[in-house]
Amino acid sequence: MISLNIEKTFGFISKENVFAYEAQVKAAQEALEKGTGKGNDFLGWLHLPSSITKEHLADLKATAQTLRDNCEVVVVAGIGGSYLGARAVIEALSNSFTWLQDKKTAPVILYAGHNIGEDYLYELTEYLKDKKFGVINISKSGTTTETALAFRLLKKQCEDQRGKDTAKRVIVAITDAKKGAARVTADNEGYKSFIIPDNVGGRFSVLTPVGLLPIAVAGFDIEKLVAGAASMEKACGQDIPFAENPAAIYAATRNELYKNGKKIEILVNFNPKLHYVSEWWKQLYGESEGKENKGIFPAAVDFSTDLHSMGQWIQEGERSIYETVISVEKTQHSLQVPSDGANLDGLNFLAGKHVDEVNKMAELGTQLAHVDGGVPNMRIVIPALNEESIGSLLYFFEKACGISGYILGVNPFNQPGVEAYKKNMFALLNKPGYEAESKAIQARL
Ligand code: PA5
Repeated sequence: MISLNIEKTFGFISKENVFAYEAQVKAAQEALEKGTGKGNDFLGWLHLPSSITKEHLADLKATAQTLRDNCEVVVVAGIGGSYLGARAVIEALSNSFTWLQDKKTAPVILYAGHNIGEDYLYELTEYLKDKKFGVINISKSGTTTETALAFRLLKKQCEDQRGKDTAKRVIVAITDAKKGAARVTADNEGYKSFIIPDNVGGRFSVLTPVGLLPIAVAGFDIEKLVAGAASMEKACGQDIPFAENPAAIYAATRNELYKNGKKIEILVNFNPKLHYVSEWWKQLYGESEGKENKGIFPAAVDFSTDLHSMGQWIQEGERSIYETVISVEKTQHSLQVPSDGANLDGLNFLAGKHVDEVNKMAELGTQLAHVDGGVPNMRIVIPALNEESIGSLLYFFEKACGISGYILGVNPFNQPGVEAYKKNMFALLNKPGYEAESKAIQARL
C-alpha cells in the first residue's frame, strides 16, 4: 500500500482549506460512480482492477508465453496511452542491466511507434535483422500514424525474416473490437488479438491488455499488479472517509495549490527506474486536465541526477511550482559503501552505510531545502518496486486524476487538443480527404 503525506504543503496552503474540498471531492466521486459527470462514456477504468477475470489473465499469460517461447525480442508498437503504461511498469520492475546480457530469461522488450524518427526506425530494423522478433501492435483507434507506420515496417520485416506462418504466431494486435485499420489487418491476417474496451481511454488503459500483455511478456506477474490496483481501488473508494482516502487528499491538495498560484507540479523520484512512471503520469494529468485554458502543468525530474541540472531552478526560480515526491521505502538489493584505507576521496564517513541510506538523506535534505526555498512538497511512499506497489500507485494516480479533473471543472477523459497537429500534418502530407486543408495550409506557408 502507498501512503501520502501533505504536511510539507502547510506553510503554503492551510490544512483547513484542503479539507474544505471534502464536499467537492464527494460530488466528484459520486459523478464518477454514477456516471453523471463529463466524459461519462469513458469510466471503464474505475472498477477495472476488481473486475478483471482469472480467465482473461490466463489468456494474456498464455499469449505472453507464446511470444516468450518464440522471440528473442518483442517490439511493442504504440504511442501515448497505448505505450507509456507498459513501459512505466516494465522499466520500474526490470533489472537495469541484465537485458543487455546474452543469456536472457525473457525477450528483450523494445518500443516503436512512439516517434517518427527515421534514424530510430532504421536503427531498430537494423538491430532486428538477425533476431527472432515478434510485435505487439497497440492502437485503440487503429489509425494512429506513428504506430501504423512503425507497424508497417515491422510486419514486413517479420514476415520476410520469419515467414508468414511464424509471423502470424508472433504478431499480436491490441485494438478496438470492430473499427480501425489495426482491427482489419488483425482479422485479415489471423493474428491473435485483444480488445481495448470502448469505455477505457488510452491513458487509463494500463490495466487492459494494452499494458498487461507487454508486462507479462517481460516476465512480470500481472496477477499481483492487478491485485495491487484492486486494493487501491478499495482504499480510494467512495465509502472511504475523505481524510483516509489518499486519492481524495491528493486531488484536493493539488487543486488548492493551483488556486494559490502553484501552476506547475513536478513529480520527483529518487530512483532511475521510475523515470517512465513519471512519463506515464505526465500524460495522464497533462491530457486529462490541460484544457479550456486551465490545468496544472505536469513536469518531472529524476533526482539526484536532475539536482545537478534542474535543482537550481527548483530552489531559486519562479515560485510557481510544487513537488510531489515518490519515495521507495525498500530497495530490492543491498550494497554497502566500502571502507578505504587511504580515504583519498574522503568518503570514509559513509563506509558501511547502504547506498540507499545516502540516497534517503539526499531525499530528506532536498525536501527541506526546497520547502525552505518556497516549494510546497507532497510525499508518496511506496513500500518497494514490486508488482503490487506499482499496481497500487497507478490506480491511485488514475482515481485522483478523475476526481481532480472534475474539481477543476473539465472533462478529464477527452483530448480534443491532440487533433490540431494531426490535421496540419495530414494536410501537409496531402492525405486523401484533406484536400481543402492542404490548400489552406499551403497558403499559410
Ligand atoms: O490517452 C489517449 O487517448 C492517447 O494518448 C492515445 O492513447 C494515443 O493517442 C494513441 O492512440 P491509439 O491507441 O488510438 O493509437
